[in-house]
Amino acid sequence: MNLAARTTRVVPSATLNVSATAKAMAAQGLDVVNFSAGEPAADTPEVVKAAAKAAITDGFTKYTPASGIDELKQAIVEKFSRDQGIHYEPSQILVSCGAKHTLYNAAQALLDPGDEVIIPAPYWVSYPDIVRLADGRPVIVETRERDGYALDPAQLEARVTPRTKALILNSPSNPTGALYTRETLEAVADVAKRHGFLVISDEIYEQLVYGETPFLSLVSAVPEIADHTLVVNGVSKAFSMTGWRIGYAGGPKALIAAMAMIQSQSTSNPASISQKAAVAALRDGTPFFKELLTDLSPKRRLMVDTLNAIPGVTCPTPAGAFYAFPNVSGVLGKRHDKGTVTTTADLATYLLHEAHVACVPGEPFGSPHHLRFTYTPTIEAIERGLKRVERAIRALT
Ligand SMILES: Cc1ncc(COP(=O)(O)O)c(C=O)c1O
Repeated sequence: MNLAARTTRVVPSATLNVSATAKAMAAQGLDVVNFSAGEPAADTPEVVKAAAKAAITDGFTKYTPASGIDELKQAIVEKFSRDQGIHYEPSQILVSCGAKHTLYNAAQALLDPGDEVIIPAPYWVSYPDIVRLADGRPVIVETRERDGYALDPAQLEARVTPRTKALILNSPSNPTGALYTRETLEAVADVAKRHGFLVISDEIYEQLVYGETPFLSLVSAVPEIADHTLVVNGVSKAFSMTGWRIGYAGGPKALIAAMAMIQSQSTSNPASISQKAAVAALRDGTPFFKELLTDLSPKRRLMVDTLNAIPGVTCPTPAGAFYAFPNVSGVLGKRHDKGTVTTTADLATYLLHEAHVACVPGEPFGSPHHLRFTYTPTIEAIERGLKRVERAIRALT
């Protein structure tokens, strides 16, 4: 089969791959502790399920406007006004089939072949491939663990070229949990304004912050940048709705219209039932994510403290999201009876087969010295899984 060249420029999502392998091993009866998922363990809130059931009962099961129903756009306008202090018109809102789809539409609407998108590393695995699928060029700017993974505005500016179309910011970050401070947001906005590129601000983990550092949206910190910003968000993470596939964006009218046009010729509308469910999540779901945070807080502590007690592993405390991102440099280069653990991919494979623990290697996040562990499983599973990780790492020589 003679496939398009673009199929060779991208790779399947690493996180979805590891999760699938872990699930396949569990299906064979193995006791696999899965720290690779990108979702909360909690069920979707009842109020959301009730809205979806009502949508089905009421026959709200047909095509909707491709860009989303008015009621959901209105709920999103209210959310942005309440939480970000920014007023969008409904024509500045697009509802898509997950925030990943929102980002895909944005890349398709923005990029011509060779256009550049600046992506700070470590990054969410899909950003570079979404850019490549639109024939764009990802330009990776490293950030450092010792700087709290803050993007250095001078380094950012040094990578701007006449082809720079956009920068992707992600706060709180997957995989590092880092949050952008007001100072960094202001400095980044200043660079974007002077060079006239768009900022794509992926705020999907907005609600999942643990109190030490507050979340600050780019458009709340610098309201003047709203005309040059696409704010991306969704209901997947905060409302445990990863399977419902609803993401959304607020941004400049012309960009939203172009993204909506692309969506109208690809997926058409996101599922009608999920849209009704998302209205309930945005309007009535706040108690749910507060409970989610209460559940996740001690798990974060346990995960970070236990990882730090493993020789060769150091793990900063993530300020947001639900991932620990330990540095495993001290383990790389060690041997087991079947070979050497040279890369974090080797280490993740070793842990999966020797300890029956699934975590995600750092390379697909642009970070060759780290592993990513999701701390959404139960306390008991975190204790059991990390005990096995410790034993397997101590067995390396
Ligand atoms: C940083 C980030 N952005 C966007 C997404 C996409 O979420 P969804 O497509 O489920 O809305 C994810 C999911 O893992 C993510 O981690």
